Amino acid sequence: MEHIIPIASDHGGFEMKQFLIEKLKEAGYEVKDYGTHSNESVDYPDMIHPLASAIEHGEYPLGIILCGSGNGAQMTANHHHHVRAALCWNVELAKLARQHNDANILALPGRFIPNELAWEMVQAFLNTGFEGGRHTRRVEKIEPVEEQHENE
Ligand code: RB5
Repeated sequence: MEHIIPIASDHGGFEMKQFLIEKLKEAGYEVKDYGTHSNESVDYPDMIHPLASAIEHGEYPLGIILCGSGNGAQMTANHHHHVRAALCWNVELAKLARQHNDANILALPGRFIPNELAWEMVQAFLNTGFEGGRHTRRVEKIEPVEEQHENE
C-alpha cells in the first residue's frame, strides 16, 4: 500500500500531474490516477473529493493533489476527516508539512512552480516522517471537538 500513490488534479494541474506520474513510475511507485485526463476545463472538487475520501478511509497513507493555484484542491481535501492537506511551494515546506503537521496530502500549485521542483517536493514529502512529540498534541487539536449545546 505504501507504494501506491494516489494523485488527482483539475485541468490547471493536469500537465504537472502527468509529469509526476511518469516520475513516480520511474521511481518504482504504483500510481492511482483519479483524473482529470485532459486539459479540458473541469471542476476540481470532482477529482479531489474521491482521492480525499480514499485517504479518509485509510486506503492510502499519502496522496498528491494539484490545481492551478493549489488552493481549491487543498480546500476541498481538508473538508474530509483525517485529511491534512498542505499547500506547499518549496522542498522545505513539503518536509515540514510531514515533520510537524503529519500532512497526508501534498497540494501543489500546478501553474506556479516548475515541474522539476514539484518532483523534488513529492520525493521529500513521501520520504519524510512525522516527528511526533509535541507535534502530536497539536495535530490532535486540529479537528474541532463537536460543539457542546447547553440543553443537551
Ligand atoms: C482553474 O482555472 C483554477 O481556478 C483552478 O485550477 C485552481 O487554481 C483553483 O483553486
